[in-house]
Amino acid sequence: MALSDFIAQLDVLEAEATRAFGAVADAAALEAARVEYVGAKAGKLKEAQQGLGKVDKADKPAAGKKFNEAKTAIEAALAAAQERLAVGAETSAQAAFDITRPGRPLRLGKLHPITQTIERMKEIMGRLGFTAVEGPEIEDNWHNFEALNIPLSHPARDPLDNFYLATAAASGELNEATGPDGKPLLLRSQTSTVQIRVMEKTPPPVRIVSLGRVYRPDTADATHYPMFHQIEGLLVDRGVTMAELKSTLRMFCQAYFGGDDDVHIRFRTSFFPFTEPSVEVDMNWPKKAGGTGGWMEMGGAGMVDPNVLRAVGYDPEQVTGFAFGLGVERICMRQHKVRDIRDLYTNDVRFLAQF
Ligand code: DAH
Repeated sequence: MALSDFIAQLDVLEAEATRAFGAVADAAALEAARVEYVGAKAGKLKEAQQGLGKVDKADKPAAGKKFNEAKTAIEAALAAAQERLAVGAETSAQAAFDITRPGRPLRLGKLHPITQTIERMKEIMGRLGFTAVEGPEIEDNWHNFEALNIPLSHPARDPLDNFYLATAAASGELNEATGPDGKPLLLRSQTSTVQIRVMEKTPPPVRIVSLGRVYRPDTADATHYPMFHQIEGLLVDRGVTMAELKSTLRMFCQAYFGGDDDVHIRFRTSFFPFTEPSVEVDMNWPKKAGGTGGWMEMGGAGMVDPNVLRAVGYDPEQVTGFAFGLGVERICMRQHKVRDIRDLYTNDVRFLAQF
């Protein structure tokens, strides 16, 4: 076939199809025209395409180009008619919907690793009979220091080590914020405050844990952050001993880290104003249980100081108790092999999505 014939034939087809699509008045007519001109099996465009095989080899590029132009024009006329009759939306949406494609996975939200750690700790301590309670993050002098037997002269009260709060006057002047007792308010520096709050309200026996945020003006580095979390435990009853403290901590660590392998607890003598005697708690997390093998520092503990029991109206001749306070971040970081505490608080979803 001569190239000129092929071109002429397509010109006619294009004109005819454009006119036909321009004239259709309803969806049925449009569909009929669609089948007639661009039907995949026996449409006229398909038919014209056969001519492409019959032109001289040298004319093929020009013929192909012409064919594509005519095809684009005819399809545009079809699309215009579809749009005009508002039937296109459905047809093209159907055409674009490929039922064989795999679905797009939904991104599921997750709890923050610290929240997961806290929930797990609560659950384990719950099984050991400890009720989880909460206390305020803004604390007064009494609960953060005095009742915990931390004397006025104690360095723990230093303004450089605590976030004391201020109120702003209308003039913009800052004044120390004070509680009902006229003493300064601060962001709690330890969860031991909750021991006092619980004992003040509840007669013995008590058996609680409290997990929450504490604040200290530390410069952020790999192991420090101005806000972090502690788990505080308190048990007060008749005849409570240090052996029970050690077994409770061992059972807690065993449940948290141990699996089938034994986790060991070690006490080192220490000092805290609110316990006597006081110890530093280390845990040995065996290598075969996925641990690091060495001793790892968990936090502080001890037998509740009689002065603390007296401060809340308990009689130290009648009851004794133990208390402990462990760092939540440290445990979470060891568990997941996170090296820098700041990673937990940068809120990078790529990091957080791993847990
Ligand atoms: N409150 C202590 C701290 O923040 C930790 C602590 C030590 C809590 C001994 C206790 C305890 O309950 O008995 O460093």
